[in-house]
Amino acid sequence: MNRIKYLLLSLSLLVIFGCQNTKKSNQTYSDNNTFDVQIKALMSKMTLEEKIGQLNMLSGDWSVTGPSIRSNFAKEIKEGHVGAMLNSYTVSYTRKLMELAVDSTRLGIPLLFGYDVIHGMRTIFPIPLGESSSWDLKLMEKAARIAAIEASAEGIQWTFAPMVDITRDPRWGRVMEGAGEDPWYGSLVAKARVKGFQGNNLSNDSTIIATVKHGVAYGAPIAGRDYNTVDMSKRTLLGVYLPPYHAAVEAGVATAMTAFNDLNGTPSTANGWIWNDLYRTQWGFKGFVVSDYTAINELVAHGVAKNIFDADVLAFNAGVDMDMMGMGYVSNLKKAVEKGLVSKKEIDKAVYRILKTKFELGLFKNPYKYGSEEREKNDLLTPQHLAFARKDARESMVLLKNDHRLLPLSKNISSIAVIGPLANDKYDMIGAWSAAGDRYKKPVTLLEGVKNKLGGKVKIMYAKGTEINTKSTKGFAAAVQLAKKADVVLLAIGESADMSGEASSRANINVPGNQLALADAILKANKNTVIILMNGRPLTIPHLDKVAPAILETWFAGTEAGNAIADVVFGDYNPSGKLTMTFPRCVGQIPIFYSHMNTGRPYNPNNHYTTHYLDCPNTPLYPFGYGLSYTTFTYRQLKVEKPEITKNDTLKVTVVLKNTGNYDGTEVAQLYIRDLVGSVTRPVKELRGFQKVFLKKGESEKLIFKLTNEDLSFYRKNMTFGSEPGRFDVFVGGSSATMYKIGFTLK
Ligand code: NOJ
Repeated sequence: MNRIKYLLLSLSLLVIFGCQNTKKSNQTYSDNNTFDVQIKALMSKMTLEEKIGQLNMLSGDWSVTGPSIRSNFAKEIKEGHVGAMLNSYTVSYTRKLMELAVDSTRLGIPLLFGYDVIHGMRTIFPIPLGESSSWDLKLMEKAARIAAIEASAEGIQWTFAPMVDITRDPRWGRVMEGAGEDPWYGSLVAKARVKGFQGNNLSNDSTIIATVKHGVAYGAPIAGRDYNTVDMSKRTLLGVYLPPYHAAVEAGVATAMTAFNDLNGTPSTANGWIWNDLYRTQWGFKGFVVSDYTAINELVAHGVAKNIFDADVLAFNAGVDMDMMGMGYVSNLKKAVEKGLVSKKEIDKAVYRILKTKFELGLFKNPYKYGSEEREKNDLLTPQHLAFARKDARESMVLLKNDHRLLPLSKNISSIAVIGPLANDKYDMIGAWSAAGDRYKKPVTLLEGVKNKLGGKVKIMYAKGTEINTKSTKGFAAAVQLAKKADVVLLAIGESADMSGEASSRANINVPGNQLALADAILKANKNTVIILMNGRPLTIPHLDKVAPAILETWFAGTEAGNAIADVVFGDYNPSGKLTMTFPRCVGQIPIFYSHMNTGRPYNPNNHYTTHYLDCPNTPLYPFGYGLSYTTFTYRQLKVEKPEITKNDTLKVTVVLKNTGNYDGTEVAQLYIRDLVGSVTRPVKELRGFQKVFLKKGESEKLIFKLTNEDLSFYRKNMTFGSEPGRFDVFVGGSSATMYKIGFTLK
């Protein structure tokens, strides 16, 4: 049925019954009845097979992201065996599939369309790890909001984001999808992103439902290898890894996704403790749980199920409502019910949760409300979205080094050489997980950004120099020649987009190929060389740090990458990004994070028998929270309002921040605490506050932070959550390395 016909039918039914109707089931969907009444009425008509069909998700013809057990999905939809589709977008395509469900099945239940809209749909924003370096929650919320507008314009109602996994091992390729290593900050980012996607009203046709993933602790696979086992103490799990998932649930996230990994012996997809106890009972999660891609079937390879039938029983009873791409639920759950291994009541609960989501989205009133040709024409890649992408990108960039104030570059130079395998590379600019983002035409390269900025006034030269990952030095000589001739050089090196993301772990996280040799050659030819790093994870770059005067971390900055980099390089934007993941000096330091314990033998250079490496310092190359500006900031007059507080008090901490340099600029002022003596060991620092403050040069501002009892709380020796009386240090400064501190006592 085409859309017009559908609308006419709906209208006529509206006239006849005074309410709207999806179609043939004789079921009316009315604003006068609660969803509960309507869902129950619908479910009373459903056969067991039809119910189980709602628990099945298949992939459309686009971007298959895993091993597909592909059946003829159109046939499956018509037979009522599909509740949701992934990798299906554009209005014409989703409408065709929706029509199959609405017109050809007995009850005409609409489909849900899900997609990995991770950092934009068509307008691509910086990779999430990069965006988290902006420390701007409103910015992240808005990026998710725009992603929702663009995705919904194309028929999508569901994104598989945000990924909130805490990441402390940069070998793991999926660190690019999250907000870094810190649970407190990660929780705020999780909330902002959920809010951005979902808005306040799910039935609004430009908001989409979000997915918190991957539950839980997918971010800590042993040795950083994707899909690998996670083995961690309960204290670390509860205190460090769980908070962002919980925060997403508190923000009202509509769905949750299982993880591929096993956690302390039980695969996430078979872990009833995670889904039934933690999410549903303890956290009050009301949405539905979807498996990761074929993750139910993979329980066989994990070795916890003999066959797919057993895997389906295990996963379902663990609380996993929807089977992504496994086809096992539709093949096996009916038999499992007949054998008494799965209860009909539990199936009803799962179906209820999925139907409720469809009701909340308004799909029963109008299955075609998400997306239209008009919205596809008007809402994608708009000038406003692109302008926002440029702002988002420049706020995500982190200035790692800037000796002799090489940056910002003057626009009054006579020549510039833009060199490197990533200097004029559109394909990689939008990074991994870039949904329906165009890789070939739309992204602005660094070279294009420089041309846009400098126009015809400056001689702009370009040489590739080398490939991202090669041994051949064929291009070196030409690049060196240009570097010699130019006033300044921008050298764009790093990873390709596919070196991070799913199944893209690296055992060495250096700058690949012979790019460092190229950097040496270029730096020898022209000392005014700025390194423009592009990458999806923290890299080990001690050599670059030693030899290059200036390094700008630009991540994969999205559709507007080149323009945003040019804004920063030529001083139209003063960099303000701060790292949310530690940069190690070498792979042997991993996992490395600022919030570690002190140990019984903290490092003392005068005592060999203290914790250290023989061949590498303990300290990172660049710590969490670090990032330079073109100006400088000082922190003075750190004060606590009272030297002693009780659990009921909120403690005010004040500090005077001053812009002491020559540029207006923005600083991310950070507050950390240390609980000096606990019933269990406590981290040397924990982030508990930050403020992003713009100050004109010479200006000062008194910043006020507030600490509550919750900020001082942790999982104590007996695993209860709360604070303990005693002394605390409070540190304030421009990174986690700050030692500017004051103390107070909790009575
Ligand atoms: C596998 C990934 O782990 C998950 O994050 C993603 O949402 C699904 N594939 C669907 O593409």
